[in-house]
Amino acid sequence: MRKSLGGIAGRGRDFVLSLRTSCLNSAISNAIQQWVKPVIFDNLILDMEVGQLFVGEMGENLDLEKDQDPLLEFWSWFEKARASGEALPEAMALATVSPAGAPSVRMVLFKGINKGGFEFFTNFDSRKGRELEINPLASIVFWWERLRRQVRVEGRVQKVEEEQADQYFRTRPRGSQIGAWASRQSQAIPNRADLEARVRALEMEYQGREVPRPPFWGGFRLIPDSMEFWQERADRLHDRLRYRRSTNDHWILERLDP
Ligand SMILES: Cc1cc2nc3c(=O)[nH]c(=O)nc-3n(C[C@H](O)[C@H](O)[C@H](O)COP(=O)(O)O)c2cc1C
Repeated sequence: MRKSLGGIAGRGRDFVLSLRTSCLNSAISNAIQQWVKPVIFDNLILDMEVGQLFVGEMGENLDLEKDQDPLLEFWSWFEKARASGEALPEAMALATVSPAGAPSVRMVLFKGINKGGFEFFTNFDSRKGRELEINPLASIVFWWERLRRQVRVEGRVQKVEEEQADQYFRTRPRGSQIGAWASRQSQAIPNRADLEARVRALEMEYQGREVPRPPFWGGFRLIPDSMEFWQERADRLHDRLRYRRSTNDHWILERLDP
């Protein structure tokens, strides 16, 4: 059993499905964790009609009484979204809630699944960062137009470990590293020149040396309590399958009316 994502890339969907049947969830978590660097799933063949994929693959074989891992299902869908030519399959909308209960939503980039959760990186002092600090409940949604699929995830965030955030920050282009220091994300500024002046000053400051990760920048991991897989079908009679966490390693799977 190969535990790197290279293994998944090499064997594509069959690999994921065989993992599912052998219940090697920790192995796939490790594999998914490696995804942070882009991988090309070039041997993945979509051999079913779009719109039939989910039904053919899950609708018929779905055993509602059996424990299944929605993260495995997500990864299988995500692979297909990547293979479908979707422009930015890792783009997801993230909703947070203010202390007054007002929701806000913005796009962020999904950076992989690790320790059972969806990871993304941001500025902790941004609006989302502050809201998550006070109320760690959040929701994300993916929309893959080419497959006519949506995945909704709800749960609680935790911060990604410092060491992992450092590791990821080191892989970012230098311009983005400087940008992370320069931007006081979500603050009002007088004009663009103000931001650009900060960037120039930081470029001077870090000239000839590595840019460290700012202490106010890092990752969040959304641990799902609920995940819904939505597939568009004819006549608005869409498929919706929702997993609800009952215990840490057990999920309740239900079909919802469209
Ligand atoms: C496709 C896309 C991907 C984005 N990815 C990120 C991201 O990974 N992290 C981030 O902080 N902002 C990202 N942004 C910018 C956010 O949408 C948002 O403008 C910023 O994080 C400030 O949000 P806030 O004021 O609600 O905290 C992205 C925007 C788009 C359109």
